[in-house]
Amino acid sequence: MITRLLRPVSDPAAIDTAAGMLLNAKLVAFPTETVYGLGALALSGAAVAAIFAAKERPATDPLIVHLPGRRWLGRVVSQVSVEAERLIEAFWPGPLTLILPRSAAVPAAVTAGLPGVGVRVPSHPIAAALLRAVDAPVAAPSANRFGHVSPTTAAHVLADLDGRIDAVLDGGPATIGVESTVLDMCGPEPLLLRPGAISRQELADVLGHPVCDSRPSTARADLPQQAPGQLVHHYSPRAEVRLYGHADGSVLEQMRRDAERDAAAGQGEPPAWLLLDEDAAATEGVPGRRWLLGPAGDLTHAARRLYPSLREADEWGAQVVLAHLVPQPGLGEAINDRLTRAAGGRVIGKR
Ligand code: TXA
Ligand code: MG
Repeated sequence: MITRLLRPVSDPAAIDTAAGMLLNAKLVAFPTETVYGLGALALSGAAVAAIFAAKERPATDPLIVHLPGRRWLGRVVSQVSVEAERLIEAFWPGPLTLILPRSAAVPAAVTAGLPGVGVRVPSHPIAAALLRAVDAPVAAPSANRFGHVSPTTAAHVLADLDGRIDAVLDGGPATIGVESTVLDMCGPEPLLLRPGAISRQELADVLGHPVCDSRPSTARADLPQQAPGQLVHHYSPRAEVRLYGHADGSVLEQMRRDAERDAAAGQGEPPAWLLLDEDAAATEGVPGRRWLLGPAGDLTHAARRLYPSLREADEWGAQVVLAHLVPQPGLGEAINDRLTRAAGGRVIGKR
């Protein structure tokens, strides 16, 4: 299969072409404000099956359904609680996925047989225009091979899926860079399944109470996953990620010592370092190449740079990536969640 690269900046028909392909049950990757998604018609069992095949994704991992707008909700879910309404009002369009009781119209493959379906209305202008042109729900997981780092550019999509999908719509780099927050609204309390671009605090502010936790950092690598999407090994580059605790002088000192010890022992290639701007001085002179994620005080840059840096470290040939947890508030929880999963759930040193 030849994968077409569609460029809305230079081709005014690109979005209509992509919409036509989706309506013909084809697979089209497209940009969203979080990461690139691999889209297919959500209400077509055959189209949805093709997503699982292209990504080599296990049938047990459900897909998020992307809606052109709020008014489509009634087609795919059977019930919307008062709390869900409040969240929708506050955060849609945007990077919040709600798991709500699914309607009979949704193929079982989309939800991996679960009673709830994940839904969101993306805010990215190209995603929004595409969904309007399709005028139907579009299922879209992140457009990467299963388990790999999510793509934030069309080039990342092609690196994973060229020849396996029909087209990719190039909308430049994704704005946020980490995936949507996933909140399960099917039980008695909202349950945070995946921290993401909408923070725990923002959710609590709208709900008037904290959300319950189902964080993968509490999951263990040696146990089966507790809920879909909580696989500990996920969002991983090829290189081994060695993740240290929150940076302070002693953590940076330990990272530096470990790297110097490995270099002295002639162990492997020099490592890739994923660092906040403030850390650069503390690791100066240590072997390896540095990827700077921006200042600790503004994690929007770190969120945007996280996945591209991991991909670049792989391309550079890194065997080991050295990183540490970032400050937790806001986007920090999502970044730390992805770093922890990339490291297989292990954090070295104090947290
Ligand atoms: O930002 C995003 O959410 C991106 C863009 C493309 O929208 N999509 C994305 O999809 O990250 P995916 O499939 O890579 O991750 C969705 C996560 C998975 O971990 C999945 O298990 C969970 O959401 N999920 C989806 N539907 C679910 C359901 N019905 N019940 C429980 N978890 C669900
Ligand atoms: Mg994914």
